[in-house]
Amino acid sequence: MDEQETLRVSKIKNGTVIDHIPAGRALAVLRLLGITGSEGHVVTVTMNVRSGKLGRKDLVKVEDLELVTEQVNKLTLIAPTATINIIRNYEVVEKRAVKLPDRIVGILRCTNPGCITRQPMEHVNSKFVVVSKSPLRLECEYCGRYLEEEEVLKQLTQ
Ligand code: CTP
Ligand code: ZN
Repeated sequence: MDEQETLRVSKIKNGTVIDHIPAGRALAVLRLLGITGSEGHVVTVTMNVRSGKLGRKDLVKVEDLELVTEQVNKLTLIAPTATINIIRNYEVVEKRAVKLPDRIVGILRCTNPGCITRQPMEHVNSKFVVVSKSPLRLECEYCGRYLEEEEVLKQLTQ
C-alpha cells in the first residue's frame, strides 16, 4: 500500500485484522464469521486497496475481538490468501496464515439431491475431501460428487 492508502486504513488498538483477502470478498468473510455488526464491535471494511502480493485486496478489522482457530479455518474456503493478525496494544502479537484443512465437515451442502447428507431423516453431516486447492475442488465423501470453487463461493456468499 502507498502512503495515501496507509492513511486510509488506520491502526487499531486491540482486536483482529484480516489482511490479504481477495478483492471483493470482505463482506462474504464477515458473513462467514457471523459478524453482523449488531455485536457492537467496531468493524472496518476496506475493499479493493492496492497490494503487492495480490494486485488488489480487501481488509477487515474487528476491534476488541480475537478470532478463534475454528472461525479462522472456515475462511480458507473463500479467502485462502488471508492472514489473521491478532493485535494487542497496537502491536501484532500473532500472525496466522489460514490453512485449508484436508476435510470440510458440516459447512457446505452436497449438490447431489440424492446424497445421504441431504436426507433430513438421516442426520448425516456433509463431509468433503479437498482434492484440489487451486482452483478449489472438493469431493463428497458419501456420493463422490465434486463441489467446484464457484459453487463453494455461491453457497458461502448467498
Ligand atoms: N494493523 C492494524 N493495527 C495495528 C497493527 C497492525 O490495523 N495496531 C494492520 C496493518 O495495517 C496490516 C496488518 O494489521 O494491515 C498486519 O500488520 P503488519 O504485520 O505490521 O503489516 P505487514 O508487515 O505489512 O503484514 P504482512 O507481512 O502480513 O503483509
Ligand atoms: Zn454427496
